[in-house]
Amino acid sequence: MTQPFLKILVLHGPNLNLLGKREPGIYGLNTLQDINAQLFDVAVELGVELSIEQSNYEGVLVDFIQGTFDVFDGLLINPAAYTHTSVAIRDAIAAVAVPTVEVHLSNIHKRETFRHHSYIAPVAIGQISGFGAESYRLGLQALVHHLRTASSAD
Ligand code: DQA
Repeated sequence: MTQPFLKILVLHGPNLNLLGKREPGIYGLNTLQDINAQLFDVAVELGVELSIEQSNYEGVLVDFIQGTFDVFDGLLINPAAYTHTSVAIRDAIAAVAVPTVEVHLSNIHKRETFRHHSYIAPVAIGQISGFGAESYRLGLQALVHHLRTASSAD
């Protein structure tokens, strides 16, 4: 039986364009380009198609999420600071009901208390937090695994 060719959108939120220069003690030395290149390699291994976008603007991220409807099978998102503030991003994910995995480079649960709450977590399949650039690889693997097993189990 052939597997359906999955299309995944990867969304990076605000300030992630500065990775590599931005607080390297917290976020590491990998640039966003490094992370994206690693994700494209993982996508080839997994046999899925990736589109990757980054924005510093909440409304632009909402537009990208709305655009997943009937186009993408899954969403891998690091909402960055909007994790802790954005009802709009949460509502967009709930509206399109695209299976979503939330990722963070740092472990948000062992940082400042304002980072402990995620508006996104309740509308995500799960959250991976604290493994640096590896969080993205783990998140993509988990999302694809979920999509492949959910479509055969449901
Ligand atoms: C982050 C954690 C957020 O709290 C922060 O605002 C970010 C990055 C992470 O990947 O660790 O910008 O999402």
